Amino acid sequence: MMDDLMYGRGSVGGPFTLTDQTGKPRSDSEFRGKLMIVYFGYTFCPDVCPTDLTAITQALDALGPAAADVQPIFITIDPERDTKVLADYVAAFHRSFVGLTGSPDEIRKVANSYKAFYAKVPGERGGEYSIDHAGVIYLMGRNGEYLGFMPPQTGPDRLSEILRKYLAN
Ligand code: NI
Repeated sequence: MMDDLMYGRGSVGGPFTLTDQTGKPRSDSEFRGKLMIVYFGYTFCPDVCPTDLTAITQALDALGPAAADVQPIFITIDPERDTKVLADYVAAFHRSFVGLTGSPDEIRKVANSYKAFYAKVPGERGGEYSIDHAGVIYLMGRNGEYLGFMPPQTGPDRLSEILRKYLAN
């Protein structure tokens, strides 16, 4: 309640505590003072996630030292399969990426607060599945407030342009 009043959080995003790729609990509050990029995806995603995470990585690289003020966060929507693989996965993208996981319920709750909807799609072989998801890139401000989102397939140039704009504010 106090946070809502102080930070004027909108209806997208909100507090979370999840577990990072090293097993450490991480909360949104520790990233205050930085912009947060929040992305919901899963490591088995064949195309959308890798493309977007590569664009985020290139955008951060393009920012140079200013990228230290941006915290990219990947939240898995597939916690059952994204266990140990999560650390290697995020390490393949920008070095500052934090990969977060939790119980399916915890993840669903955080995703709902971001209005990030997803659903399992059964594969052709038993037990296999993919996950239908939006691939939206959320941008949160230095006080945790929602700034806006970038649609999937936003290119790195456009991303770094938007990040520069908000970093200058
Ligand atoms: Ni994906």
